[in-house]
Amino acid sequence: MVNELITNAAKYAYQGQSGGKIWVTVARMGDDDVSVSVRDEGAGLPADFDLRKPKGFGMRVVGFLAQQLKGSLAVRVRDPGTEFLVTIPRHV
Ligand SMILES: Nc1ncnc2c1ncn2[C@@H]1O[C@H](COP(=O)(O)OP(=O)(O)OP(=O)(O)O)[C@@H](O)[C@H]1O
Ligand SMILES: [Mg+2]
Repeated sequence: MVNELITNAAKYAYQGQSGGKIWVTVARMGDDDVSVSVRDEGAGLPADFDLRKPKGFGMRVVGFLAQQLKGSLAVRVRDPGTEFLVTIPRHV
């Protein structure tokens, strides 16, 4: 999941720029969950981006993997940039 999300940030967030930052954060969320966040401060998502109807294969796989772990996938619009947040229960 992290590999795909970092690859996406590298491909789409900083187009036309020489580089940019990508943050990967793993954190405990309360007693039961772990969150994995991949965030950039790039161009932001296309207007028609819909997490529920992924167009690309990559986001589809990330969604399936989150499901398989009984977790969830969310996207947050940052200003600037985008954050993808995977939340996974620690004990499946
Ligand atoms: N971090 C991001 N910043 C801006 N746009 C993004 C970002 N991540 C994804 N996108 C947009 O979401 C679209 C769907 O991503 P997805 O990974 O599903 O497909 P893809 O990367 O185009 O192809 P694939 O992953 O199958 O090689 C991308 O084409 C891109 O437009
Ligand atoms: Mg992709």
